[in-house]
Amino acid sequence: MTKELYEVGEIPPVGAVPAKMHAWLIRAERFGEPKDSFQQEVVDVPAIADDEVLVYVMAAGVNYNNVWAAQGIPVDVIKVRNKLGEPEDFHIGGSDASGIVYKVGKDVTNVKVGDEVVMHCGTWDRNCPWVKAGNDPMYSPTFRIWGYETNYGSFAQFTKVQAHQCMPKPKHMTWEAAAAYVLVGATAYRMLHGWGEHAVRKDDVVLVWGGAGGLGSMAIQICKAAGASSVAVISGDDKIDYCKSLGARGCLNRRNFAHWGMLPHWKDQTGYGSWLKGVRAFGSAFWEVLGEKRSPRLVFEHPGEDTIPTSMFICDTGGMVVICAGTTGYNATVDLRYLWMRQKRVQGSHFANDSQAYAMNQLAVQGQLNPCLSRTFSYEELPLAHQLMFENQHPHGNMSVLIGATEVGTGATEKEPIPGPAMSLPKRDLHISPHPYPSSVPLPGIAPTPAETLGPVMVDDGTKVKDLMFYGLVACKPNDDLETVTRVMIENDVHAVVIEEAEQAVGVVSQTDLVLARQSRTTEEARKVMAREVMSEGCATCDMETSLSDAVSGMTRMGIHRLVVTKRVEDRNVPIGVISMTDVVRKLIVE
Ligand SMILES: NC(=O)c1ccc[n+]([C@@H]2O[C@H](COP(=O)([O-])OP(=O)(O)OC[C@H]3O[C@@H](n4cnc5c(N)ncnc54)[C@H](OP(=O)(O)O)[C@@H]3O)[C@@H](O)[C@H]2O)c1
Repeated sequence: MTKELYEVGEIPPVGAVPAKMHAWLIRAERFGEPKDSFQQEVVDVPAIADDEVLVYVMAAGVNYNNVWAAQGIPVDVIKVRNKLGEPEDFHIGGSDASGIVYKVGKDVTNVKVGDEVVMHCGTWDRNCPWVKAGNDPMYSPTFRIWGYETNYGSFAQFTKVQAHQCMPKPKHMTWEAAAAYVLVGATAYRMLHGWGEHAVRKDDVVLVWGGAGGLGSMAIQICKAAGASSVAVISGDDKIDYCKSLGARGCLNRRNFAHWGMLPHWKDQTGYGSWLKGVRAFGSAFWEVLGEKRSPRLVFEHPGEDTIPTSMFICDTGGMVVICAGTTGYNATVDLRYLWMRQKRVQGSHFANDSQAYAMNQLAVQGQLNPCLSRTFSYEELPLAHQLMFENQHPHGNMSVLIGATEVGTGATEKEPIPGPAMSLPKRDLHISPHPYPSSVPLPGIAPTPAETLGPVMVDDGTKVKDLMFYGLVACKPNDDLETVTRVMIENDVHAVVIEEAEQAVGVVSQTDLVLARQSRTTEEARKVMAREVMSEGCATCDMETSLSDAVSGMTRMGIHRLVVTKRVEDRNVPIGVISMTDVVRKLIVE
């Protein structure tokens, strides 16, 4: 007789589905830190549709998406689903799992009750015209991540999945290991195998960012399985052995370089020059680690803003930078000259479709993919696992939580097909990377702010440029050296000098230009640089009668901090002074 409710760890007879189940629930009224947000409750076991499967969860994988769900940001996943017509006022998360099939819908043919499975997290509506036409469901508007964008994920005794999500559990893996690798493994597989002529192939060279991380550790192994060589980037030499044991040819420690972040503007010759020096040193180090002078045909990207300029530069002619996240930021800066002249490709990638997930899982079944499990938590510790992630205190690698399994080390029924080397991550290594919003949800909007809280905006109160400007032009010549320019600035207490040639203002040198000129030069070298080498060419001007608000909009539109002020004398505009943002700020905030 099937009981109404089974205790956690008490496995019902295979195929016997109780009416109720234990689950970790998130509710809107307790959105916040995972330790408070997740609470144990008893709810009804969900009904399944004709193409769905009910799986008894043995272990669940932990991913950052449910740290977001717990907080209700950037979206309230419960509210979103309620709007779509789903009635439940709670969220059961969990986008990775291993378990046993307990019930199948009438259209299900790929699995049967009793099968041991792992599940990928890609779901879509089988009736979507795009999907029905045989297109990649990853582009379907109905695509959702199971256990994040859908309810009834794996943080419960039973989970509801679409049948195509189910894949055979590798028999040599424990329940907790099998629950750990699918989300990251399938994502890495699509990145490396999903993009036509740029699919990784034998003898390719691949650069893998974050080689000891969740995605990176999968990427190294997928490259190895394809016969390609990978070089992993890491932030500590203590991760070298780990990446090598997974199959990396070698490692680069990113802490030995300092050229990270957005690309300096190409007009900023000094800044760009210094960046170029940094990225070339990185390229040389790459060759050294690889042992030959070949650039990577594929670059496996996810840090984003900090690293993409380097990825684009180092990628081989005709190669591809494939990216699935922007952990360090979303502004990707690219020097287009390298993109078009060397005919490189930048490719966005997100999770995986069935065939990619199945192919990745096949590698796991064959013993070619280690799940890189770093820590297993008990059922009661599920909030703790997410809290550690929330606080960036979790270990590298992939983490699992026991749900139906009562102890670690159970579930493996066969020997490992290819016994892998013993691997361990550095013990005290914790995450240091920021966690941006999950990429599978729309970016947050800008919350409407009540107008009255903003304070008065800058109104046109009649102030004119002539009321605030600095009268008199502090000028230098194009061939003046920067030591002279600097002294002129200091003596006149100004932030910029106009560069004058043949009675015409031809450019401006600002304090920022001086600081940039000093970068990658000694003081002695910087002193000798000529003003014309660092000046911003041309002068943005405004008439002294211009209103202050118009002058400010002009400056903000052009992204500059000052304008040369002119006066109409007979038939020409004569420069008579400068108005700078500093003058504006003084009026707006200090006075
Ligand atoms: N679109 C998708 O389908 C999808 C799927 C899975 C994951 N993701 C996203 O992909 C990203 C990575 O996931 P993950 O599971 O691999 O995370 P992870 O385990 O935290 O690993 C990320 C790695 O990035 C490296 N890193 C951190 N800051 C860096 C920086 N400034 N420059 C270069 N490398 C840096 C770190 O390694 P070192 O410190 O050793 O360099 C870290 O190990 C996350 O944003 C995740 O949300 C997207």
